[in-house]
Amino acid sequence: MKLKPIEDFPDVWSGLYPAGSARSNQFLIRLDEESLLVISAGTNLDLSSLNATLTGGKDPASVQPPKNMYLVAPNTLHHMGIRKWKEEFAAARGYGHSKFLKKFSKKGHNLEPLDHLLTVLPSHVRAFEAPGTRCGEILFIVEYESRYLWICADSFFHIPQSRMPTGAVGWYLKLSGAAPGLRISRLFKFLGIKHRSAYKEWILNLLDQFEPHTLIVCHGVPLQSKQGETTLKEKLVNLIMAQL
Ligand SMILES: [Fe+2]
Repeated sequence: MKLKPIEDFPDVWSGLYPAGSARSNQFLIRLDEESLLVISAGTNLDLSSLNATLTGGKDPASVQPPKNMYLVAPNTLHHMGIRKWKEEFAAARGYGHSKFLKKFSKKGHNLEPLDHLLTVLPSHVRAFEAPGTRCGEILFIVEYESRYLWICADSFFHIPQSRMPTGAVGWYLKLSGAAPGLRISRLFKFLGIKHRSAYKEWILNLLDQFEPHTLIVCHGVPLQSKQGETTLKEKLVNLIMAQL
């Protein structure tokens, strides 16, 4: 479980884990000295690398695990590692979209509604339940020095051509319109979203309210606004207007 820091956003890391024949990112956010938020928890949890990451490599064996562990399934597909993390951290609490808790229960997870998590999040970490989806998408926005980091599960994909997997997975990503480049996959568009206008209005409003500096997604690599280029917000708005 190799965790990489997210540029410009201290205390946020991402790390890959195997998800079926593909791969997904998990995201870790240190909320304070005692609390860790894990979004799309991975199945490849490794305590020594987790401790090494949290301590910046300082004697990981001597470190106590975070006292408060909050695990979020950011939609009904990204729940795979929750069982494993709960086995390691018995006091960990799990959360999902409030309208999809029964669905999670059928998958064997006893999750709490997102509202319960909102009561413990610091003010610089925001979380939103997407309206009008079939998959219970949740989006996180982390604020640091007036910049916003967007953390999305399957709303967007960003797999550059240079990172395209070969073989069946690459073929599948192309066929489903999920890659290469910044994309809304056809699977998300047609199966993930139930009420397109409600979802579209919601996400466009968020883009106006919290203009993203950086986007990180479960499938792909980070994307940042760069000076002199089309802004990330414009790229996302153009994509949404063209696809939804
Ligand atoms: Fe996904």
